[in-house]
Parts: sequence; structure tokens; C-alpha cells
Amino acid sequence: MASNYHQVPVALAVAAVLFATIAMGAEYIVGDDEGWTINFDYQAWAKDKVFHVGDKLVFKYTAPDHNVFKVNGTAFKDCIAPPSNERLSSGNDEIVLATPGNRWYICGVSGHCDAGQKLAITVWDPQTPPSSAVRGISFSGYQVFFAAIAFLVIITV
Ligand SMILES: *[C@@H]1O[C@H](CO)[C@@H](O)[C@H](O)[C@H]1NC(C)=O
Repeated sequence: MASNYHQVPVALAVAAVLFATIAMGAEYIVGDDEGWTINFDYQAWAKDKVFHVGDKLVFKYTAPDHNVFKVNGTAFKDCIAPPSNERLSSGNDEIVLATPGNRWYICGVSGHCDAGQKLAITVWDPQTPPSSAVRGISFSGYQVFFAAIAFLVIITV
């Protein structure tokens, strides 16, 4: 079977591309075309999305008209901005969702959070989808990755 050995680099390359695609995560422009602004329903925007560890949020706005603060649930509810040194203010603020759990973001410009410029999301670990119904039928990225490796090994050797 020596003639098959040239397929190994191809299989590894395919596996590498597959893994890179899984590891990169999704990128979400908060508010899509509207961006990060007042009088927008960010809960409606987030409602049908499932955020996973490794995904990225991008807050787009015209600086300094708005800004972004990561806050806790209390500050989110009451629209309390933390100290200004915690502010993101580039107008193109990228936040990688590094750990599972709840996240809250508000605009710290006076009155904007009260005008709806606030976003609450839940970040899920890739291994534990939100509902058991989904878990029963879906595969995690890593399961797909290892299944693909196994498949490539089988067809290669
Ligand atoms: C939530 O954040 C606010 C504002 O930064 C802070 O004053 C408060 O202590 C925090 N609450 C908790 C429970 O961490």
C-alpha cells in the first residue's frame, strides 16, 4: 500500500482547514446594519441567535456618539455605567466571547441605555448546547472534527 502514502498530507491539510473553520467561531455585528445605537431592540436581535465560546461580537457605531461597557446584571437592569476606564470607544469594538455564561453590555452615554441601547446574551460552551432536545440530534464541533479525522485515516491507510 506504499502508493497511498501521498494521500496523508492531503488528509492532514483537509483536517487542518476543518479545524481552523471550527475554531474560528462566528462573528456577530451587533444590530446588523443598524449597528450599536439607541431605539433598537437588541433583545429581539439576540433572541434567535445562539452564542458560543469563541464567537465574536462587533459593536459598530460613530465614536464618540456611543460607547460600550461590559456590566453585570444589576448594572444592566438599572443602566449604571462603570468607571470610564472600562469603556470601549473605538466605534468598532470587537469582543471575543471567551467563557460560557451571561454577558451584559450597555452604552454609557447619558440616557442611551434607558433608550434601549443595551444587550444581554448567554454564551454557551460548544460542548453543551442550550437544550437537551438539540443535544440529542446535533454534534459538537469537536465531535465532527474527530469523526472527520477518523474518516480520513480510514480512507487514507
Ligand atoms: C455590578 O456593577 C456595579 C457597577 O459597576 C457595581 O457597583 C456593583 O457592585 C456590581 N454588582 C455586583 C453584584 O457585582
